[in-house]
Amino acid sequence: MLSRRFFLGAGLAAGAATAAVSYSPRSFAGLYGPDLGVAKLNANENPYGPSPKALKAMAEASARGAYYVDESIDRLIAMLTERYSLGSEYITLSAGSSGALADLARAKATQGKILGPDLFWDTTTRLALRQGGELVRTPKTPDLGVDLDALYEAITPDVALVQICNPNNPTGMLLDAEELKAFCVKASKKCTVLIDEAYNEITDDPQANTVAGLIDEGYDVVVARTFSKVYGLAGMRVGYLLAQPETTEQIQRYSLGNYMLNQAGVAAAIASFDDWEFVAYSREKIHESRRMIMDAANSLELTVAPSETSFVFVDLGDVNAEAFREEMERRQVLIRGIYQDYTTWSRVSAGRIEDVQRYVAALPEALEAARKRGITIG
Ligand SMILES: Cc1ncc(COP(=O)(O)O)c(C=O)c1O
Repeated sequence: MLSRRFFLGAGLAAGAATAAVSYSPRSFAGLYGPDLGVAKLNANENPYGPSPKALKAMAEASARGAYYVDESIDRLIAMLTERYSLGSEYITLSAGSSGALADLARAKATQGKILGPDLFWDTTTRLALRQGGELVRTPKTPDLGVDLDALYEAITPDVALVQICNPNNPTGMLLDAEELKAFCVKASKKCTVLIDEAYNEITDDPQANTVAGLIDEGYDVVVARTFSKVYGLAGMRVGYLLAQPETTEQIQRYSLGNYMLNQAGVAAAIASFDDWEFVAYSREKIHESRRMIMDAANSLELTVAPSETSFVFVDLGDVNAEAFREEMERRQVLIRGIYQDYTTWSRVSAGRIEDVQRYVAALPEALEAARKRGITIG
């Protein structure tokens, strides 16, 4: 939504503020996705999915009638147990990974504090905070990275969970695989360690960049995965956590379990999971549009964080990221505004190539328009 306070604070005429309101994202949203002509690059969705196999499976599952999930869940869990060499007592399926991440956050918040870096995808953590939980954040490294040493130092006896997104959202940055594994090994002796790997399949080397193997070795590590990103199934809401059986039991105490899953989504997940051809295609498209964003930003001498994800975090220099978001929105390109005190950093998703082309084409003009407004927040 546009911030009226923002416009008025900018000293713009009331007429301009009124005109701009008509560009609120809702006003050009189609029923099931963005309307024609709108480049939706604000939520890290993957427009290259669902795969043809997933579409077929969803249609078949729905045509049978909208039965509650049952055997399909068993099938998906069997596929997960095989992939990760873990028993079903290590696995929690949920509506998106958010479902089980929220359950984990609520469970752990009753046991102690949650610890995380200064900026990460904290939507589910904040749910636990609204219910009385406490989050402690450690400062970033000078290059916007996650400071593993600072996190380890901050694990006091009252910390129940340390949470890291790898790669991180919204920076897109990936931690060194060996350093993260070493951190997980030692930190998990003090508290549960959650590594949210939502974008793992998009990284340079997904196998090297996962810490899932530590779970089988007995470490108190939780790995979150989702079908929302590389598989392009965000709206179908399927994700899962891998964790020690004791932690799994704690998570599931806060969950309605299979009741939260939908048949078409589970069908799509089953059909997509081993579809390596589609995964490769999806990765390729994401990498291509990510390169386009980076090239465009670099050509304007803007700094970008090194992304291993389906989005790019761009430093707009002297331009306020919220003013820029609004200028992009006027041009029907939807991106994200300010995160916390990162007032000049702007996140854009590596979506459909033609949508990214619109972002690239609008970039110089939107940047200049936002710069002219000369607004600083925070
Ligand atoms: C790091 C991270 N984790 C988890 C999620 C939640 O995704 P979902 O609930 O669709 O699996 C997101 C969504 O953007 C994310 O960026």
